[in-house]
Amino acid sequence: MAQINPSILSADFSRLAEEARAVEGADWLHVDVMDNHFVPNLTLGVPVVESLSRATGTPLDCHLMIEDPDRWAPQYVEAGAGSVTFHVEAAAAPVRLAREIRAKGARASMALKPATPIEPFEDLLPELDMLLIMTVEPGFGGQAFLDIMLPKIRRTRELISKHGLELWLQVDGGVSASTVERCAEAGADVFVAGSAVYGANDPAAAVRSLRESAER
Ligand code: DX5
Ligand code: ZN
Repeated sequence: MAQINPSILSADFSRLAEEARAVEGADWLHVDVMDNHFVPNLTLGVPVVESLSRATGTPLDCHLMIEDPDRWAPQYVEAGAGSVTFHVEAAAAPVRLAREIRAKGARASMALKPATPIEPFEDLLPELDMLLIMTVEPGFGGQAFLDIMLPKIRRTRELISKHGLELWLQVDGGVSASTVERCAEAGADVFVAGSAVYGANDPAAAVRSLRESAER
């Protein structure tokens, strides 16, 4: 089953609760946390995640694009996130961090920027509930999908199968009606979509139609 996670990065930040409710029926709400250091953009932090988790019944999928996730990620679990993704490029001790996130009761997930290969991390996969392959350089919504990431998605899916793992494979960046099928065909099963959902006249309908395309 394909999961569609709308990214509130493309929503109106002055009406976050309403925007979260506009995509009821989505599997998760994707929350992009940026710190102006790991990426050249600044969004929101723990207090906003706490408020959002009270404002919506949709579970929160927090994508931390921040330095020192070893220090900060556990706070996002406490703030109500059901899934917390850290970037391997920023983590000092990814195994310890994944275990800590799981121990606190959330799904643990690790993200790879476009230039980060999966192969060195094959042995870490059993520690994770989800792997995120970025299909744009992290930092901004509305960028063009990087087709050159499709082979990485395919190789990652092969590794997951080879080890008989249950973990989800998420793609984030430029996912739209025109790219979602290729991602699904390559082996992704969780799809983040910002502009393709919040740029649509009817965000909830956009979620449904992305899901149909992903399952085609
Ligand atoms: C980018 C973020 C994405 C972003 C995707 O760094 O991680 O989640 O919101 O936006 P779209 O779907 O517009 O590419
Ligand atoms: Zn994201």
